[in-house]
Amino acid sequence: MVRAWYMDNNISDQREENHRIPQKFISLKELYNISGVEYYKVNIDSYSSDELLEDLKKERGYTYEDEITCSKDCLQNYEEKLKSFFREHLHTDEEIRLVIDGSGYFDVRDRNDEWVRIEVVAGDLIIIPSGIYHRFTLDTKNYIRAKRLFIGEPKWTPYNRPVEDMDCRKEYIRKLENGEFNFVQ
Ligand code: LAC
Ligand code: NI
Repeated sequence: MVRAWYMDNNISDQREENHRIPQKFISLKELYNISGVEYYKVNIDSYSSDELLEDLKKERGYTYEDEITCSKDCLQNYEEKLKSFFREHLHTDEEIRLVIDGSGYFDVRDRNDEWVRIEVVAGDLIIIPSGIYHRFTLDTKNYIRAKRLFIGEPKWTPYNRPVEDMDCRKEYIRKLENGEFNFVQ
């Protein structure tokens, strides 16, 4: 099950945070309200035929998918890539990741610009909206395997903060301010 919490700004090595048990977790509903990040649980034993995943692909128009493994042995330019993943950035499209094995942290800025850490493990599918500032790090196990989904031709370009003038950034802020991420159900 995915867990999310506000980061402790006093910790210097932010990858060490998994050694600390946070006092309070953020619910998925709250996570959505403060950031627009969506979460789905996928049955990882049968993910290639998971109904929820198939429905999501259809509904949201995900036509592209591949897999990425981040570990010292599997990722070319490992150190460099990891460094760029952890630099605060945004994308012009949604970032969709389904964790198949291993674990890691996605950090996203909430509506007050505070870091929220989202711990992901196998079966966690998260959708990070276009225009939100975020970053990614492995935890101390140094390993994650994830499926990446995309609408159309994939673009993975990160735009490092600050990029306040980008249309996707303005659109994201507009949605936040308009209450479009307020949970209804
Ligand atoms: C990415 C993640 C690491 O942009 O944020 O691929
Ligand atoms: Ni990203």
